[in-house]
Order: sequence, then structure tokens, then C-alpha cells
Amino acid sequence: MDTKSEDLASVKNVENTEQPILQIKNPVVKVALQDWEDLDKDLVQLELDNDQYKKKLEEMKVLQKKCLAGIAHQRYRLKKITEALKPVKHLSEDEEKAVNALQMHMLKKKSTFRDYEDNLPHRNGLYLNIILGQVNISLLNKEDKYLYKQDYERFKLTLSNIILILSLLLVLGNYIVDFSNIRWADSILHFLLVWYYCTLTIREQILIVNGSRIKGWWVLHHFVSTACSAITLIWPDSYSYMQFRTQYGWFILYVAFVQLLQYQYQKGCLYRLKCLGQRHDMDVTVEGFMSWMFKGLSYLLPFLFMAYLFQLYNAVILYQLSYDPRCTEWQVPVLAIIHLILFLGNMSTTLLVLKQKFTEDIKNIKKFYKTKYRFNNSKPKIM
Ligand code: COA
Repeated sequence: MDTKSEDLASVKNVENTEQPILQIKNPVVKVALQDWEDLDKDLVQLELDNDQYKKKLEEMKVLQKKCLAGIAHQRYRLKKITEALKPVKHLSEDEEKAVNALQMHMLKKKSTFRDYEDNLPHRNGLYLNIILGQVNISLLNKEDKYLYKQDYERFKLTLSNIILILSLLLVLGNYIVDFSNIRWADSILHFLLVWYYCTLTIREQILIVNGSRIKGWWVLHHFVSTACSAITLIWPDSYSYMQFRTQYGWFILYVAFVQLLQYQYQKGCLYRLKCLGQRHDMDVTVEGFMSWMFKGLSYLLPFLFMAYLFQLYNAVILYQLSYDPRCTEWQVPVLAIIHLILFLGNMSTTLLVLKQKFTEDIKNIKKFYKTKYRFNNSKPKIM
């Protein structure tokens, strides 16, 4: 018995020995006292469960450390074997066969380690360490990872809806009311965008730590977008601002609309990946998933490319504006460069993603897709 239970026992003894025997006649008080006694018995069991839980947690931590050290050791040995084999040349046919088989085994081992790591804690990385400190944000099973990803997509959906409504109000409202005198209304939208993109960068880092394969550019894109919105927020209410204001409003509106389409695509992918993980679910196959994905992409891509062209157009207009003698704000040329960077990064990454998707080896990705969200849950939740 630990000190806490001993304390409780001594309190009970004191109560039993020192309290006089009371005459209780009121039925409500009687029932309450009886309930309390029952509750007291349950507390003993609860204490035992809690002790067991604490013990298991300690054991789990020890096992986690052991597994992590084991994986690191295995990786180190694999690296050494690979290095040792590198300079070896002029092998006989049998030796070559043996080396090839060994390399295949090593590749399989590496993929097994990645599976093991899915259930082990991960390091936060510099950015999360700075923002969150040493708190552990590892999600230790695929179901939690799936739910977090779902939550991330929902967050984007909610914010995109709000941004769409706000920008619609500001852009269309401009034709009815003269918004040029109420710059603060624009500032609300720009501030919201700063907060939104900033939050996305944090959520995306958490996803990456937990095994998401988001391309580095999309995360960088959100950092650059944060800077873009912050610079627009502090852009003084001037001639150049008023020249660009309506165009930028339409741009924000259009991007929010594209984000809604992206949500539909990502939701579809996520839902099908989860179905693929249900071992006995025959409704979705990898081929079926890929065919749906390409259909979804062919629907989404024209809208995405339009958004990228809009970014290029923004860059051109801002660049021209920066040469206007009435334009004295540093924000104008800086924003022109930022919009150009966004255009180049988005365009090149999207083309790269498409190239990868068309050249990916179906054999390699089959296992990956099937096991990405494999966990025991019979019915997939629809977002
Ligand atoms: N933001 C966040 N995550 C993204 C992402 C984005 N823009 N694009 C892809 N991902 C994620 C996917 O959800 C997936 O995550 P997971 O590993 O956790 O399952 C991972 O990155 C790999 O995705 P991938 O297979 O490379 O691409 P995809 O098929 O999911 O999406 C596109 C491809 C082109 C549709 C997508 O990248 C996209 O919508 N890009 C446009 C981004 C954008 O907003 N541009 C600005 C508009 S102005």
C-alpha cells in the first residue's frame, strides 16, 4: 500500500474509532451514506488501477527507449554493411545473386523500421521546439494520426469559409459602400490571414513529425504567405494600396474558393485511404483509389493553375506599380517579389507532384497506400 492509501486507511480508522455511533432515521441520509460506502469500495479498485497504469506507463517508456535504441543500432549496422559492399567489384554470378538478395532484405528491413517508428515517439524538430517547447506531440497509432489529419483538413475548411465570406463582403461591399475610408475592415481580413497561415505552419510541422509526406514547399509556402499577409497588413492606406486593393480582394476570394475544392479532393483521398486500410473492405482497391485520385486532380488542377496565374498577374501589377512616382511604399516591390516566388514555387511543385504521380511504381505504392491508415475500426467516419 502506498502512502496515499495508508493515509486514507488511517483517516477511516480515526473516523471509525473516534466518531460516536449515530442514529440515522432519515431514509435519504441513509441512502446517501450507503452510496458513500459503495463509492469508497470502488475507490480502492480505482487506486489499484491507477497504480497499475502508472507502472505500465513506466514500462512503456522503457520499452520505447529500447525499441528506439534497437532501430538506431540496426540502421547503423545496415549502413556499415552497405558501406562495406560499395567498393566490392568483380563478383562471381553467385556472389552477385547473394549481394542482390541481401540488398532486397535490407530494403525490406528499412521499411519494417518505418512501420515500427509509426508507434514510437518522434523528435519535435527545431520549429516546434521553439514554439511548443519540449512537449511531446507524437501520435502513437495510425487512428490518432488519421483523426489529426482529418482535424487539420476541417480547420482549413472552416477558415477558408470564413475568409471567403469576409473577402466577398469586402470586395462586393466596395461597390455599395465606400470601403476605402474604413481600412480597419481590410486589416481584420489580413490579420486573420496572418493567424491562419501561421497556425497552418504549426499544424503541418506536427503532421510531418507524425509521418505525413507533405512536400517542403507547401509548408514553406505557408511561411511565405504569412509574411505576405503581414506585409499587406502594415501597408499604409495610400495611393498604391488603393490601386491594388480590389485586385487583391478578388485574389483572396479566389484562393479561398480553390481551398474549398482542395478540401473536397483531400477529404476524398483520406476517406479512400482509410477504406484501403480496412483489411476486409473490398469496396476500394489501390487501382480504384488511384483512378479516383487522377479524376479528382483533373478537376482541381485547372482551378489551381488559374490561382498560380493570378499570383503571377499580382506580381506584374505590383512591379509596374512600384515604378509609379506616386508609389513610395517599400511594401510594393517586396510584395511583387513574394507573389513571384509563390507563383514559381507553386507551379514547379505542382508539376513535380504530377510527374511523380505518373511515374510512381504501382508495386511500391500498393503496400504504402494499403497500410497508411490501417487500424482496427470497422466503419470509416465520413468528414
Ligand atoms: N498543403 C498541405 N498538405 C498537402 C498539400 C498542401 N497544399 N498538398 C499535399 N499535401 C499532403 C497530402 O495530404 C499528403 O499528406 P499525407 O502524407 O499526410 O497523406 C502529402 O502531402 C502527399 O501528398 P501528394 O500525394 O504529394 O499530393 P496530393 O495528391 O495530396 O495533392 C495537389 C496534390 C497538387 C492537389 C496539392 O498539393 C495541392 O492542392 N496543391 C496546391 C496547394 C495550394 O494551395 N496552392 C496555393 C493556391 S494559390
